[in-house]
Amino acid sequence: MAAKSPAKSRTAYVCSECGADHTKWQGQCAECGAWNSLSEFVVEPAAAAGKGGVAASRRSSWAGKSDAPAVTALKDVRHSEDARIGTGIGEFDRVLGGGLVHGAVVLVGGDPGIGKSTLLLQAVVKMAPSLPGLYVTGEESLAQVAGRGSRLGLPLDGVHALAETCVERILEHAAAMRPGLIVADSVQTLWTQELSAAPGSVSQVRESAARLVRFAKETGTSVFLVGHVTKEGGIAGPRVLEHMVDAVLYFEGESGSRFRVLRAFKNRFGAVNELGVFAMGDKGLREVPNPSAIFLSGSREPQPGSCVMVTREGTRPLLVEVQALVDASPLSNPRRVAVGMEGNRLAMLLAVLHRHGGIGVGDQDVFVNVVGGIRVQETAADLPVLLAVLSSLRDRPLAEQTIAFGEVGLSGEIRPVPNGEDRLKEAATHGFKRAIVPKANAPKSGRVGEMQVVGVERLAQALEAATD
Ligand code: TYD
Ligand code: MG
Repeated sequence: MAAKSPAKSRTAYVCSECGADHTKWQGQCAECGAWNSLSEFVVEPAAAAGKGGVAASRRSSWAGKSDAPAVTALKDVRHSEDARIGTGIGEFDRVLGGGLVHGAVVLVGGDPGIGKSTLLLQAVVKMAPSLPGLYVTGEESLAQVAGRGSRLGLPLDGVHALAETCVERILEHAAAMRPGLIVADSVQTLWTQELSAAPGSVSQVRESAARLVRFAKETGTSVFLVGHVTKEGGIAGPRVLEHMVDAVLYFEGESGSRFRVLRAFKNRFGAVNELGVFAMGDKGLREVPNPSAIFLSGSREPQPGSCVMVTREGTRPLLVEVQALVDASPLSNPRRVAVGMEGNRLAMLLAVLHRHGGIGVGDQDVFVNVVGGIRVQETAADLPVLLAVLSSLRDRPLAEQTIAFGEVGLSGEIRPVPNGEDRLKEAATHGFKRAIVPKANAPKSGRVGEMQVVGVERLAQALEAATD
């Protein structure tokens, strides 16, 4: 019998929802419980992965050799602080946490056609003087990329491009050219010669991305990976990518709107939930440095069912309009639909409204929408949501130029939220006349600039303040 090769590739299965590995196929992921999410993944033999792995170094140190990486006191490790490079696009820098870090791998996800390629081409060109870039395109031809660049009036001098999808060849070129930045557009087109699976499959995308990550860490090259988002909201199956990279940014926008929001979903070098706002025009993406105004619905006439709130996603306050529609339901089980906020939270708030505000909507359909395609995740939206619901139910608009924010507790208390002062200032700057906020967030003087601030402690008080 012929001796078996010691280095034999093995098949494993990876869950596209949570990234867990399994040794055999099964219908449900044992880790996260997702159904039908496992796909085949070929694991390379350990020898091919190089000798530098953890296991290898551990073995050699056990054998008494001293070439293994030494244990080091953390304070002695050399590192450079603030080694951030501005992308030349302020809103992009904000979402990255103040610029791009050397050797960072950033995944930029979004629907097809949202403007990922445009944004990254603009960034690569702007960064070229300080960080020579290599734009790798697997979806468009070089002529298309250059054509877009010149149509946008971008100076294309310092930027190199490569139409290639094989990751080994990309890295070969990168090793020769030594760029400071690589853009891989898109990660779904990449494939590696090591695997026989088809390009675009989970194992190819994962392994190709892993190679780029390894290259980035070894050489200090920064990498942007572009990824398309599937209908389920993952980056074409492999949520696994999110574990591998340093930052995950999502580029979002409502269809038909020219505004785009870049959101940090994960960031090892900055705050999550940071928002950058752009407008898509005929000259590409333009920054919107003061985005508050665009998330208000335009009509300044007060309408029933609308309440303006000040959210603070990331590091700046943002005025956002919350709309509600409350309508008699033909169903025995009336609908509760929340767009831009969590559905369970809406159900909870309606229960508090009934119990502690004395207002029942048990026989009504309730729809809540956060205008502008924004998703509000913080609890400061509680009070504005209830005020919008109340206003729709009574078919009476809130007093003109009123804003609100505040968390609503289960016993009907209005709880303070962080950064109240910031939020109030933002509202006053935009000319709002009245604010209904948690008592602990209200200044003692009862005013911020020209704006009157009403501090409330109980839901009933807030409802009263909103309707008088
Ligand atoms: P693109 O960057 O190709 O999107 P993605 O890479 O995310 O798929 O952007 C494509 C869309 O943007 C396309 O529908 C046209 C629009 N667009 C403009 O409106 N103005 C412009 O200057 C550019 C370059 C694109
Ligand atoms: Mg593209």
